[in-house]
Amino acid sequence: MDLFEAIMERRSVRSYQGRPIPVGDLERLVKAAHWAPSAGNINPRHFVTVTEPKIVEAIKALSPGMFGGPVAVIVLCSDRAKAEKRASSNGYIYSIMDVSMSAQNLLLAAHALGIGACVVRSFHAKAVGSLLGCPEHVVPELLVALGYPQGNLGQGIRPPLEDLSHNERWRQEGSSHE
Ligand SMILES: Cc1cc2nc3c(=O)[nH]c(=O)nc-3n(C[C@H](O)[C@H](O)[C@H](O)COP(=O)(O)O)c2cc1C
Repeated sequence: MDLFEAIMERRSVRSYQGRPIPVGDLERLVKAAHWAPSAGNINPRHFVTVTEPKIVEAIKALSPGMFGGPVAVIVLCSDRAKAEKRASSNGYIYSIMDVSMSAQNLLLAAHALGIGACVVRSFHAKAVGSLLGCPEHVVPELLVALGYPQGNLGQGIRPPLEDLSHNERWRQEGSSHE
């Protein structure tokens, strides 16, 4: 699949078939996430892949923002201690940015494999961390719910790009784009 096609076609998927995802494909998704850029190449990221139905259910119960019945969840965690040790006060923001970069790689890789995905930030991070046995300094930052899509992908809505895109310098309201 062409990369630009994948970027334009990908949509958040919140309705899934029950069909399991092959382990090899889940591993490819984690590899794609791992190879995202990392601020200072600190790599304060961990990835917990969950496919055990009871644990997936338990995560869903702790996640008001998770919809449908995903067959897998990849939990993107930051090692806050590692990030802060290497980047002091920037550590926290670096780790959040790193996790975000990983999440987008993961979403695009999933789409390329025909797997539906939705990132979920609305969840109880402390409870999910305890459920998975994460050490105190490792914080679940983002969940990626996964499953083969049920039904069509959404349309996707964005504000007009011409309102948000600026060339060379900030364009004032009402001025021409040129
Ligand atoms: C940081 C972040 C957190 C998000 N959290 C949730 C969430 O908790 N639940 C959810 O259903 N979607 C969540 N989303 C998905 C957005 O709602 C979705 O990306 C947006 O509506 C655009 O739709 P699209 O992904 O189909 O292009 C989140 C997206 C981002 C970037």
